[in-house]
Amino acid sequence: MKILEDRILKDGQVLGHDVLKVDNFLNHQVDPMLMQQMGEEFHRLFKDEKITKILTVESSGIAPAVFAGLAFKVPVVFARKHKSVTLKDELYTSVVYSYTKKVSNHISISKKFLNSDDRVLIIDDFLANGQAVQGLVDIIKQADADLAGIGIVIEKTFQKGRELIDKEGIHVESLARIKAFEDGKVIFMDEANT
Ligand code: G4P
Ligand code: NA
Ligand code: NA
Repeated sequence: MKILEDRILKDGQVLGHDVLKVDNFLNHQVDPMLMQQMGEEFHRLFKDEKITKILTVESSGIAPAVFAGLAFKVPVVFARKHKSVTLKDELYTSVVYSYTKKVSNHISISKKFLNSDDRVLIIDDFLANGQAVQGLVDIIKQADADLAGIGIVIEKTFQKGRELIDKEGIHVESLARIKAFEDGKVIFMDEANT
């Protein structure tokens, strides 16, 4: 998506050789006009999938997920990372390991917000090692719901998340695909390869 790539080039900061800081429009300050356009793009990409629900993980997935929900006119549910006071047997729970932060988090969703009639679109801000997405896929299986696809704002193709998801034959669409960071610059995959 051209406007997203342009924004990444303008406001993204490369940290080390594998992290892109985008706190100007996605991870801290949020640009709702850009989010709205991304929501509409996700709708264009998945409009034939009969989506009934959008699923994400707090916190940075929520903004793009809500704008996708607005475009599809369906509810948005975000998995929570912290233990809630709700009884365990009222929750679907999965464990997500973060390679970046080297910690495991439990993520959970109340059973009342996901069921076997749902066709779910997962939305997340980044696809890196794919652990967050895998946790959500696990929860969708527990609920016996259908997974219709995965929409990602920024994918880093050089990390292993995409391969993990492709192996399961899931329909994935990323609005920006980063092939590498070279000398502090972002290199996108060619359109022909996306
Ligand atoms: P994974 O889910 O793909 O396995 O990601 P990983 O464990 O590597 O990343 C942990 C956190 O870091 C996730 O956010 C993920 O979205 C974020 N992340 C991964 N790569 C990048 C990057 O290049 N830039 C930025 N800005 N974030 C990245 P989280 O811990 O769930 O935090 P939150 O922001 O959603 O609260
Ligand atoms: Na995230
Ligand atoms: Na994040």
